[in-house]
Amino acid sequence: MAAARTLEEAGMKDAIKLVHFHIGSQVPNIHTIKNAVIEATRYYCDLKKKGFPMDLLDVGGGLGIDYDGSRTNFDSSMNYTMAVYARDVVFNIQSVCQQAEVPVPDIISESGRAIVAPHSVLILEVFNRISQREHPAPNMPKGEKKHKVIEDLEYSLINESNFTTLERYHDAVQKRDEAYSLFNLGYLDLETRAEAESLYWKICRKLVSEMPKKGYQHEELLHLRGSLVDQYVCNFSIFQSLLDHWALGQLFPVAPIHRHNEEPTVDAVIVDITCDSDGKISKFIDLEEEMSEYLPLHTLTDEPYYLGIFLSGAYQDIMGDMHNLFGKVPEAHVFLEEDEEDGFYIEEIIPGAKNKQVLELTQYHTHDLARMVKKQIDAATKSDRIRPREGMRLLNFYQSTLEKSMYLEFE
Ligand SMILES: Cc1ncc(COP(=O)(O)O)c(C=O)c1O
Repeated sequence: MAAARTLEEAGMKDAIKLVHFHIGSQVPNIHTIKNAVIEATRYYCDLKKKGFPMDLLDVGGGLGIDYDGSRTNFDSSMNYTMAVYARDVVFNIQSVCQQAEVPVPDIISESGRAIVAPHSVLILEVFNRISQREHPAPNMPKGEKKHKVIEDLEYSLINESNFTTLERYHDAVQKRDEAYSLFNLGYLDLETRAEAESLYWKICRKLVSEMPKKGYQHEELLHLRGSLVDQYVCNFSIFQSLLDHWALGQLFPVAPIHRHNEEPTVDAVIVDITCDSDGKISKFIDLEEEMSEYLPLHTLTDEPYYLGIFLSGAYQDIMGDMHNLFGKVPEAHVFLEEDEEDGFYIEEIIPGAKNKQVLELTQYHTHDLARMVKKQIDAATKSDRIRPREGMRLLNFYQSTLEKSMYLEFE
């Protein structure tokens, strides 16, 4: 009102034509949108009635994406469709205007995410599997009397007393911690500690294998199952390519892009190649349980194995940062084309960031770096620590490394 008055006093009453709002991105509940539209239209009508030449109403962005497919007002979903959104916006503006006897405005929308999210899929190559299942037992000398803590753990493993799963888990944790304390106080040698740890994991794996896959489970046991799944290591950085998952816990659809006729038999989380312990995806869409801490994936073979992260076209690449110095990923621009045999063609391939580009952004200039290395190589050659040819080979290797990608390059 103060702004309207100021403009009026300055003889600029015709300067206000538009009411614009933006209530935030990924609005999961249609009620939030309806309420905002009604409120903004009231502003619009009142200003129009006060004699301002209003004719535009801009409803901003906020139109969501149903990332998890649940059609609910859960954060990673939306309880409406694009058609419902359009109808509700138009209807509510019209009814408020009719009630106020004000002509309807032209409507502008600024939907960003809803338009661009489906345009991009991030493809990850899984190149390694870290398995909690493979804890090799240490070679304990045979015939020696076992420590009491080992006997207790072995007893727990056999479970002759038919204790419940939770009870056995608690016993195992207590015995493992006892072994740690005894070791720290010098009453347990390294081998026995390793044996205790190995038995602890054996018990955990057994408990998890006996747990039903679905239905209610005690939270501690669910957490145990989550901590035992395999890690599939992928050639990417979550901080560069999926920031909203790390920062906001937003869920994205993740699935293998091939081997769809094979049953996925490995429960896994996805970890990236940054050295940050947060560099992982360990929350997945699960419509029955709301969220799952692992994803069923296929076993790895000698063939490459690829996962797709879908609907990542809004905000992820733009907000992605260079934490741990992983820069932009390579992009392929794929266009659908009926005339092509496969129904598509690749219009352009844009290479990802090179080491030198990322280093330059942190003020390390390629030229200076190469000069410093050359200086050291010259000094080493002069003092006969390396031969000149070897020195040149090292320098060439260093320079060619700067031209390479920050990500791993597989044959
Ligand atoms: C003013 C404004 N309009 C539109 C948008 C796009 O929002 P969305 O991607 O949620 O549609 C934004 C995003 O922040 C914004 O700030």
